[in-house]
Amino acid sequence: MADTHENAYDEFAEAYAAMNETGSWNAHYERPATLALAGEVAGLRVLDAGCGPGILTQELTRRGATVTGVDASEQMLGLARRRLGGSATFARADLGKPLPFADASFDLVTASLVMHYIEDWSVPLGEFRRVLTRDGRLVFSTHHPTMDFHISGADDYFATYQFDDEWFHGDIVMKMRFWHRPLRAMTRALGEAGFGIDVIDEPDPEESVRESEPRAWESLSTKPAFLFFRAFPRYSA
Ligand SMILES: C[S@@+](CC[C@H](N)C(=O)[O-])C[C@H]1O[C@@H](n2cnc3c(N)ncnc32)[C@H](O)[C@@H]1O
Repeated sequence: MADTHENAYDEFAEAYAAMNETGSWNAHYERPATLALAGEVAGLRVLDAGCGPGILTQELTRRGATVTGVDASEQMLGLARRRLGGSATFARADLGKPLPFADASFDLVTASLVMHYIEDWSVPLGEFRRVLTRDGRLVFSTHHPTMDFHISGADDYFATYQFDDEWFHGDIVMKMRFWHRPLRAMTRALGEAGFGIDVIDEPDPEESVRESEPRAWESLSTKPAFLFFRAFPRYSA
């Protein structure tokens, strides 16, 4: 997993899972926005790419989808398997490499907050398109490029570059390494991989955050944090 800082997620899987499960940024901003874009999933075959501890996987399964989760981190996959207890399938896979699935074997690919760990989007996007059915759709979230441009302190928004950041959870410091790329690099990569973009969204957090975590509300309702895409495989006539 060359793209994640020293396998950060193997080291911090449990702390990340705890943060993701209830924290405003995931539970009341990222996940609801992803689920809204995914729409009705009952009966769909879903690939949850970069599934982490399986919290989205679990919700998709609860809504009636048959879900396969892949992640580069064995620790994350262990947490996901424990959480789902056999109601979803999991496999280790690096999204920077070809996926071990047949063509047209999924109706929906979700990829929550994983794309900013990957330098070259042509491989994952090409693979997502290959494994999607003709009527399939791709829903993913990624760090908003203006957020990462601000955090990184870099002086060129239009460049694609790696930078380091630290997250704090109690007394745990998670050292993270991300790829920044501008919005135009994202839309071009989708187009080159054969996707048509249906939605680009900058959603609001859920209203409940205003009361439950006023600092998160202040941040998420005034500054872009994540960017959301829904895209469809494009076929020429
Ligand atoms: C921020 S977490 C998101 C987890 C989950 N999608 C969610 O939103 O709850 C990012 C996940 O991406 C995984 N990851 C990072 N780079 C990856 C890669 N190249 N291939 C597959 N998974 C990767 C990490 O192991 C981690 O589980």
